[in-house]
Amino acid sequence: MARMQGKSLSRRRLLQGGAAIAACGLVGPVAGAGRSPSRTVDYELEARPAVVELAGQPVRLLTYNGLFPGPLLRAREGDRLRVRLINRLDEPTNLHFHGLHVSPAGNADNVFVDVPPGQSFTYELIVPPGYGGTFWYHPHRHGALARQLWRGLAGPLVIDPLSPPAALAATEEQILVFKDITVADGSPAPHRGADWARGKSGRLVLVNGEVRPQLRPRERLVRLRLINACNARMLLLARGDGRPLQVIAHDGHLLAAPRPLEEVLLTPAQRLDLLLALDGAGPVTIVHKPYNRGAQREPSRTEPLFSVQPPAQGATPVLPMRLATVERLDPSAVAVRRSFRMAMAFLAADGHGQLAPIAARQGDLELWEITNVDTQDHVFHLHTWPFQVWRRDGVAATDPGWRDTINLVPGERVELLIPFRDFAGRSVFHCHIAEHGDAGMMGIIEVRGPGGQRAGGPYLDYGAAFCRSG
Ligand code: C2O
Ligand code: CU
Repeated sequence: MARMQGKSLSRRRLLQGGAAIAACGLVGPVAGAGRSPSRTVDYELEARPAVVELAGQPVRLLTYNGLFPGPLLRAREGDRLRVRLINRLDEPTNLHFHGLHVSPAGNADNVFVDVPPGQSFTYELIVPPGYGGTFWYHPHRHGALARQLWRGLAGPLVIDPLSPPAALAATEEQILVFKDITVADGSPAPHRGADWARGKSGRLVLVNGEVRPQLRPRERLVRLRLINACNARMLLLARGDGRPLQVIAHDGHLLAAPRPLEEVLLTPAQRLDLLLALDGAGPVTIVHKPYNRGAQREPSRTEPLFSVQPPAQGATPVLPMRLATVERLDPSAVAVRRSFRMAMAFLAADGHGQLAPIAARQGDLELWEITNVDTQDHVFHLHTWPFQVWRRDGVAATDPGWRDTINLVPGERVELLIPFRDFAGRSVFHCHIAEHGDAGMMGIIEVRGPGGQRAGGPYLDYGAAFCRSG
C-alpha cells in the first residue's frame, strides 16, 4: 500500500518519493521561447491507481507516483523542465501545467496531446524569466478532466525566479495543496448527474492529504504557497483571530507590496501566496468561511483548515514594504475586443451554439469582456497567456495584477487585458469548475506567429465549445 507518512508538511514531504529521477545537465539552445536554457530538470510522473491513507482510512485513488497530492515539480526560470508522463491508468490521460507562460504547441504545454494507457509522453517546457511563481499540474483530457482530478491526479509546481526578491530572502516556504473529497466504499464517490451542473464538492477538505494539519516552521516569517486543487469548492480564507491575511501573490505573480485583506476567495485552480509573520507565541489558524457559489453554500459554518505553530525562538518578523515592480497594461493600446457570455451550456434556454476557434495574432493586446449570465459562479481560466483584470462591472479593478484564473459571480462583467506577447499555437480557455469545462464550457484559441505562421501540433479535436461570442 502506498501511503503518505509523517506529520511534517514541509517541502521535504512533498519531495519525498518525488520523481527525483534526474539531475541537471548542460544543454544546447532549443526552439520555443527563443532562449537558451541553462539547465535541464527532469521528472517522471507515473499516473497509476494506489491506495493512500486519508483521514485514517485507506482510499483507492488515482495518483502520480503513488502520492497524493502528486510530487512537487520545481525548476528555475529559463530552465528546460522535462516531464515524462507514464500512463498506467486504464484510460487515456495527459498533463497540463496550470498557469505557466510557456508554449502550448508541440510537446510543450499542449493539452491536445493524448497519452493512451500503457504509453508515455515527454513534455518539455521553458518558462521565460519574469514568469516564475506558484503553479500546479493536473490532467486535461477533455471529457475526463473532472473525473481524473476528482480521483486524485494533481500536484504542485514551483518555478523559482532567476533573482529572488531580497524582501523574501528570510522567509521559510510551505506549499499547501487543498483538495476536497467524499469517500464511498473506499474510493472517491463517483460523479452523479447533478454534479455536472453544480460542480462536485467533497465533504472532507484535505490539506496536503491531511485533515487540519499543524505546520511547525523553523522561522517566524513564513511564505505560504496555497493551491486550490478542488474540482469546484471555493475557499473563502481568513485568519481565525480576525487579523488580516498578507497577500503577496495571486496565481504565481508577485504584487507590488503585501496587501492586507480580512478575507480572500481562493477559487478552484487559483493560487495565493501569503506572508505570515508569527509575532505571537500561540498558533495562527487559517479558516475557511461559508461561501455561496450559487450552486452550493459551503462550509455551513467557519471551519479551521490548518494552523501554524511559531518556533520557540527567533527575531520578531518584519513584513517587507515592497516586493516587485508590477507592470500596468494600457487599455488604450488594445488592438482587438471580444465579448463572451458564460453559462452552463445545457442550462441555457436560447441554445448556445458552438463557438468557432478564436483566431488571434501574436503581438496584439486584446480586451475580453466576459459576462456571467448564469445563477451560479463560474471560474474563467485562459491557458498560456496571463491577463490583467482592468474593470469589474465597469469600475476599475482594485486588484489590477496578473492572473490566469478569475471568479465571476452571477451577473458580473469583467474586462480583461490580454497581451499575446510570446508563443503561437492552439490553446484553450474554459470554466475551471472542472465539471463545467468537461460539460462544454470550453473554447479554443489559436494564436498565429508574427508572420502569420501556425505552430505545430499534434492537436486533437476538442469537440464541443462552450461560451458564446457576444
Ligand atoms: Cu487548470 Cu485548462 O486548466
Ligand atoms: Cu462554471
